[in-house]
Parts: sequence; C-alpha cells; structure tokens
Amino acid sequence: MANDPRAAAHPIPPFPADFLWGVSTSAHQIEGAADEREPSVWDAFTAEPGRVKDGSTAAVACDHYHRHAEDVALLSGLGVDAYRFSVSWPRVNSPGGLDFYDRLVDELLSAGVRPVPTLFHWDLPADLDWLKRDTASRFAEYASAVVGRLGDRVKKWITLNEPAEHTLLGHALGTHAPGKQLLFDALPVAHHQLLAHGLAVQALRAAGAGDIGIANSHGPTWPASQEPADLEAAAFYDVLLNRLFAEPLLLGEYPQGLGELMPGDVSADLKVISEPLDWYGINYYAPTRVGAPQGTEIEFGGITMPAELPFSVREIEGVPVTDFGWPVVPEGLTELLTTFRDRYGDRLPPVIITENGCSYEGLDDQARIAYLDGHLRALHRALEAGVDVRGYFVWSLLDNFEWAEGYARRFGLVHVDFATQTRTPKASYAWLRNELRAQRARARG
Ligand code: BGC
Repeated sequence: MANDPRAAAHPIPPFPADFLWGVSTSAHQIEGAADEREPSVWDAFTAEPGRVKDGSTAAVACDHYHRHAEDVALLSGLGVDAYRFSVSWPRVNSPGGLDFYDRLVDELLSAGVRPVPTLFHWDLPADLDWLKRDTASRFAEYASAVVGRLGDRVKKWITLNEPAEHTLLGHALGTHAPGKQLLFDALPVAHHQLLAHGLAVQALRAAGAGDIGIANSHGPTWPASQEPADLEAAAFYDVLLNRLFAEPLLLGEYPQGLGELMPGDVSADLKVISEPLDWYGINYYAPTRVGAPQGTEIEFGGITMPAELPFSVREIEGVPVTDFGWPVVPEGLTELLTTFRDRYGDRLPPVIITENGCSYEGLDDQARIAYLDGHLRALHRALEAGVDVRGYFVWSLLDNFEWAEGYARRFGLVHVDFATQTRTPKASYAWLRNELRAQRARARG
C-alpha cells in the first residue's frame, strides 16, 4: 500500500497544521536493565510459571535502557513531533534512576522530538498494592520527584496508562500482574488509581507543570442483539470499560451508583479526581461485541473470562482480524469519539489518541499500513464531525514485551530481533514517515 496508486489518488485528508504526531512505548515493555532497578509487580508475576505464554520475561526486552540513542535516532528518522514513553517508578526508586530519563529527555529535545512521559504504565513497585489507599499518596510523591527533575524541559505529561486494563486484567481476572482474581472486589483498585491520578495532577501543577492528560482505554460496546438481556449486558460492559473511568474524571461522579462500592470518603476524593485536565488521552484498538452471560468460561483475545461475569464477549463477524485476533474496525474510532463528544459535551477537553496500533508479523507489514491508513481516515471523519482531536500516537515504535503474550505479538513500526537486538524499520515505518511528510507539506499549503 506504501506505493499503492489508489492511496496516491485518495490521500489521507489533511490534519490541522498544529496536529501532534507521535509514537508510544512503555518502560517495562522496552527498557530491560531489570537488574538496574528495583523489582516491579511484573517481575514477580513473570517469574511464576505459566503466567507469560512464551515463558519469557522483560529482563532484557528491547534493551532500550542501553540502546536509547539508537531508538531516538529511529524517532527522529520517522519524523514524529512527539514521543510518549513511560517512566518506571521502580527505576526512579533506585539510585541514579532519574538520570536515565534526564538523558533521554535531553536526547529527544536535541533530536527535535517532544518528550511526553507517562508516569505509570503498570509496573508498580513490588512492595506497593493498589488495594491500599496509601499507594495514591505515594504516587503523588513520586510524581513530584519526576517533575522536580524533568519539569524544566518536559512540557506535556500523562499521569496513568489505562487504569481500566490494570484493574480488570491485573486485579479482577488475574491475567496480568499482580495476578489477582478479585472480580468486583477489584473496584477499590480503580478508585485508588483515579485518586492517584488526581493527586498527581495537583502535584504536577504545584511544580508549575501544565498540559496534563491521562491515557484511558476506551472502545464502543456493541450489543450482540437488540434483546433486552444483550442490551443490558452491553450497557454494563460500557460502564466498566468507558464510563467508570471517564465520568469520575470528566463529571466528578461515578456512574450508576458505583460510588457506593468505592472505599473512603468518595465525594471528597471525586473532587480531587476531577481536577480539570488540559486534554483527554484515548487508547483505541477495537470495539467489543457484548451479550448476555452464557454460563460458561469464554476465551477471548487471549483472556479467559469467568462464567460468573454478568456479560459475555462475542466475536465481531465479517471484519479482518490482526495476528492477535483483534477485530479491525476503523469506524469504531469515529463512533467512539462522536459518542464521547455527545455524552460529555464541553466537559470533554480536547482529545489526543495516545495509542492505536496492531500486531502483525513480518517486515513488509502491509496489513499494519492498511490498519493505520484506515484509522487515520476514521480519525479525520471525527474531526469533520466537530470532535476536537489534537494528536495521534501509534502503538508502538518497537516490537516489545507484550505483557502476558511475551514476545509473540509484534506491534512495532520497527522490527526487533530479540536475539541480537537488531532494529529493522518495517514497511509501515517508511509509510508513516512519508505520510507525515505529506501532511506537513499540505499544512504548509
Ligand atoms: C497497552 C500497551 C499494550 C497495547 C497492546 C495497551 O492496552 O497500553 O501496553 O502493549 O495495548 O496490547
């Protein structure tokens, strides 16, 4: 598709001149150098047999900790405006840990790439626990330490990555670290992360930082049918994935009485949680088809869903799937953004797509190009429909440690040979570089 004459005849429409183009990664998935930081809950989890499908660990991963200069050169060659990476809390807790991010920020700025750090992307220090309220205050202290060191050069911040997935997969279903299977008893984990977010926003602002967002994962929920039981189950799933994490932030309230199930002085906490945001980050991968419970365990996208859940996830038929088995539905992105705009109106700040991408094998990754092309057009349709979208970040720069899937799923624009650490840009890397050049040329008029 990179040289596809049809694409040349129908270019992706122009995005605004100041639109922010970037790529994303996370610390635990790329850094390696695990012996040069304190352990995280993910180190403990991967050490347990059977937790990670290929039995691998992230001890070395992409060895980015030692190869950051090469990776910054790849970012600069790609021509992105910004790089979203995460700061590892266990590394910051270790002597000299902040030095690494200090150097990385300088290198990025010298390469003309804006650093956009995420303060938490799931690698909680092993001695902490989101079931405990105190973890939220500890997070704010850590945020202060990071902004104290980097705040003179970092101008855009993300507090948390996907508290929904960290709650659901890590604490309700147990397929991610820390491997707890608490089902609905995991709700305090959501509340404490949201509180941590609010306290961190306050800490960042107190240190003079502005331009703060969060990266929440969201997607349309499609009912399996118009039967009342399916509609009810889909609405419930929509609460769990979307509203439970968006509404405390945007509206200062929990949906559907869920606040009553949360620990602590919830109404006081909601004031902190709803500290106004400068922008709202959305990670979008696919919609979910949801129906009434089927009374059996269901395997979906590598996850076993217990029979006792009040919904069941179904296949979306008639669409392509990635190598991970995830449906490819670009129009879901337009639908998600217009739904959020309609639901939250002017309570929704400008949006940035903080992750969007797909796992495919191979260097000539035409399927990834088609995925990105389709999603950029879908994003543009949301702009045309009046949604205030300000940026788009591809997940991910590099093939990396894909959590419970190990190294089996490749999301990178750049291929990584994990035996030699050789980086090889894929066809999608060249395609995106050319698209960004074309976008800038059109923006210049
Ligand atoms: C996460 C990433 C992950 C990606 C693909 C997102 O949910 O933020 O860490 O690699 O999805 O699964």
